[in-house]
Amino acid sequence: MRLNENTKIVGKKVILVPYCAAHVEKYHEWMKSPELQELTASEPLTLQEEYEMQRSWREDEDKCTFLVLCRTTYEQTSDEIYSLVGDTNLFLRIEDDVEDVNAGCQVAEAEIMIAEPEARGKGYGWEAMLLLLKYALQNLNIKKFEAKIGTKNEKSLHMFGKMQFKEVSRSAVFEEVTLVLIVDEEWIKWLDGQVTLRCENYRSTGSHK
Ligand SMILES: CC(C)(COP(=O)(O)OP(=O)(O)OC[C@H]1O[C@@H](n2cnc3c(N)ncnc32)[C@H](O)[C@@H]1OP(=O)(O)O)[C@@H](O)C(=O)NCCC(=O)NCCS
Repeated sequence: MRLNENTKIVGKKVILVPYCAAHVEKYHEWMKSPELQELTASEPLTLQEEYEMQRSWREDEDKCTFLVLCRTTYEQTSDEIYSLVGDTNLFLRIEDDVEDVNAGCQVAEAEIMIAEPEARGKGYGWEAMLLLLKYALQNLNIKKFEAKIGTKNEKSLHMFGKMQFKEVSRSAVFEEVTLVLIVDEEWIKWLDGQVTLRCENYRSTGSHK
């Protein structure tokens, strides 16, 4: 979506920036990893397809994505590409299940990937995901978040569990668990205690957005 194309979110450990053409080559290198393909249930793309994907993330109104920078590395080097460690996304939809209490409301499926192995386990995934959830609450009027996670991905299941997502279904065929978080006042208060949303103006480092 275009909503966040000029927005950068500054956290304590990470900085989130919109996914731009200048980031595609590094992203494409990450996604050659069979481990990441499996953990994120992604198919490998050609470089050209990855550029098209970046454009669709930018233009489609049902997708919101940010790339994750290590804040310390960025502040030491001012090199955005070198500082990239992962990405975090939302896919938006309107709840169409009439039985659901949130029928007709905006729902977002959340994804997070800390691609650089040495950047994992340092709190970056936690903060990046919570910053995006908070950004979505404030800007996209989300009433429910979902996450689809591989049954064997214990780290990710643990992380979303700590964020108070609850399992609602499990697919043996896709080896996937669906977790849901219904937004309420109590959770918003908890989220406010976890992260502060500081949004700044962002200008792409590359010549093409
Ligand atoms: C899963 C992932 C996003 C976690 O991000 P991270 O930056 O490595 O994790 P953090 O340091 O922020 O830790 C956040 C929480 O994740 C869980 N976690 C992280 N590492 C873990 C580990 N080795 N074992 C169990 N849980 C772990 C914990 O709940 C942790 O909170 P805690 O340390 O307070 O208990 C990241 O490891 C990753 O991207 N892995 C590869 C791709 C992937 O699996 N993406 C998710 C697809 S749905």
